[in-house]
Amino acid sequence: MSGADIVMRVEDVLVTYRRVGRTTEAVKGVSFELREGRCLGIVGESGSGKSSLARALLGLEPEAASGRVWFRGEDVLSMDRRARAAFRRSAQMVFQDPLGSLNPRMRVGDAIGEVLRVHGRAKGRREAAERAAEWLGTVGLGAEYAPRYPHELSGGQRQRVNLARSLCAGATFLIADEPVSALDVSVQALILNLMKRLQRERGITWILIGHDLAVMRAMADDLLVMRAGECVERGPAERVLFEPRHPYTRELLSAVPDVAGALRRRGGGGARQSGREQNT
Ligand SMILES: Nc1ncnc2c1ncn2[C@@H]1O[C@H](COP(=O)(O)OP(=O)(O)O)[C@@H](O)[C@H]1O
Ligand SMILES: [Mg+2]
Repeated sequence: MSGADIVMRVEDVLVTYRRVGRTTEAVKGVSFELREGRCLGIVGESGSGKSSLARALLGLEPEAASGRVWFRGEDVLSMDRRARAAFRRSAQMVFQDPLGSLNPRMRVGDAIGEVLRVHGRAKGRREAAERAAEWLGTVGLGAEYAPRYPHELSGGQRQRVNLARSLCAGATFLIADEPVSALDVSVQALILNLMKRLQRERGITWILIGHDLAVMRAMADDLLVMRAGECVERGPAERVLFEPRHPYTRELLSAVPDVAGALRRRGGGGARQSGREQNT
């Protein structure tokens, strides 16, 4: 293994779901390397195997996944219990549905405090509450949101709480599986800007899963295009978006007016998200 700054190295990962009478090859041999502090975008239509790959990378598909996944040099698919516990702290998943991943009966301050305590980042209730308030600030909410319940927040605010919960355990690597797909378009850019800021300020390494190429253009350093379980194209995001090599990538691009327009203008910047970031 070369390159100390490689966070994740993936070699020929396959995910095969076996049910009685039916076998689904969801991921058919994907490989890539992800460097420290970078964002890898994974795009592809629904059913192309993105979420299956994401779960496999975090060791969450022990039955179905094969291949090799190294996280900072450690083999994810054959970790012992101790190594796995440390890995769980460092590597977290952020899901699409912010409401579904929060306990409806827990105030959001306590929801963050709980994670802090479970992972030994805060000792008593008091310290957990103080730290949770700080985290609410970090994600652009304020301490005044601590007593609220998830249903009292907007979708974007809930996703901010989710990000705080993922990061407060000490995560340095996040897989965000369509994190803004359930949000209003006007809110999407705000959450993406927050993610970009956290990536920059905290040196977080990301995998961002989605199907919106305009979003990928704004967020991703590298892109991996999936189709029917296979990686059809992979490379620096600008190269993939502006000099697509695979016909499928060209097809995807032609369906996105923003990117197709920017492609024609070559670097017109039409798809860039605004620098605005608000509490929405
Ligand atoms: N737990 C599972 N059991 C069986 N088949 C699954 C399971 N999860 C996903 N699949 C199948 O694997 C394929 C890829 O699904 P998925 O990884 O969810 O794709 P994507 O996230 O790109 O939409 C689909 O055909 C889906 O039906
Ligand atoms: Mg999915």
